[in-house]
Amino acid sequence: MQGTTVFPLLTSVLYDDSEWESPHTFNHAHFLNQEGKFIWRDVFMVFSACRVCVGESMVRMELFLFFTSLLQRFRFTAPPGVSEDQLDVTPAVGLTLSPPPQQLCAVGHR
Ligand code: HEM
Repeated sequence: MQGTTVFPLLTSVLYDDSEWESPHTFNHAHFLNQEGKFIWRDVFMVFSACRVCVGESMVRMELFLFFTSLLQRFRFTAPPGVSEDQLDVTPAVGLTLSPPPQQLCAVGHR
């Protein structure tokens, strides 16, 4: 009906095992091709489910600049004494799934 408010939930898409190799684990290989280069997956619908996000191209560029400038300067690791396997990345369930706070070390490249 016209005027109905719609809240798109992306759970079925983001956890779809016909689209993702391992939908329930953090796997950066989901976004890398066979040469290790970044690929965008259309099923990763962060910017639009129904309409178009006006900020998408700016945000993509800003995130690229933000993360590449950090990754060029630092190597990020788990805190001393904690292995990557011990990190708990179980999301907090709410209207969205929020990542829990983490401690990490940023080691500057020489
Ligand atoms: C990481 C940052 C952002 C994410 C993940 C994001 C995501 C989204 C999503 C999911 C929608 C709803 C699309 C739909 O209805 O299907 C949306 C709409 C929108 N976004 Fe963004 N957005 C981001 C940043 C921004 C920024 C920085 C701006 C403005 C400079 C912006 C402007 C808008 C506008 C105006 C709409 C409404 C479009 C409409 O209703 O026609 N967004 N965005």
